[in-house]
Amino acid sequence: MHSCTRTSFAAMAMAMGSAALAGGPSGCDSIAGVEPFTQFNYGFTIQAVWNNNCDVCHIGGSAAGLSLEAPRSELNLIDVPSVVDPSFTRVVPGDAVASLLFLKINCDDPGAGVRMPMGGTLSAVQQRLIFDWIENGAPMMSNGFEDR
Ligand code: HEC
Repeated sequence: MHSCTRTSFAAMAMAMGSAALAGGPSGCDSIAGVEPFTQFNYGFTIQAVWNNNCDVCHIGGSAAGLSLEAPRSELNLIDVPSVVDPSFTRVVPGDAVASLLFLKINCDDPGAGVRMPMGGTLSAVQQRLIFDWIENGAPMMSNGFEDR
């Protein structure tokens, strides 16, 4: 079931762009060729992506009121409305293509603001990690759902 969902991800994103969200998203990278992640350690692997690519700007909430600093950066993402466009939610657990965070790192035109990291792109493997983390319910640890 999961592999089926993921194979059709690009089509889903395009369908959303034309149906639900006027003006976006578009220019999204395919991550279908990357092996899915099934194990997560937010504070280690995902926080490392923020530390290395985002926190020069997303420090103390300076860019778009969004702090991605450790610890507890997830509290600024999960179920938090976007500051730039409050019709978006930053992370919707279980639904990556409804999550502005994922659209911002996956699409040249995310539908609100510009692609992140501003002036660059994350690798397909990093994009896949964020996609799978959200799709699996944005857990803090492992492949379990013990903490939400
Ligand atoms: C060079 C500075 C800079 C870097 C680096 C950067 N950002 Fe941003 N970010 C911004 C600015 C400015 C905005 C507000 C404008 C916009 O949304 O395009 C923003 C907005 C966002 C938003 C939307 C927040 C909201 O509430 O609307 C998200 C999500 C985001 N960034 C995630 C990231 C992630 C993840 C990274 C690293 C992969 C990153 N950013 C790297 C400057 C940056």
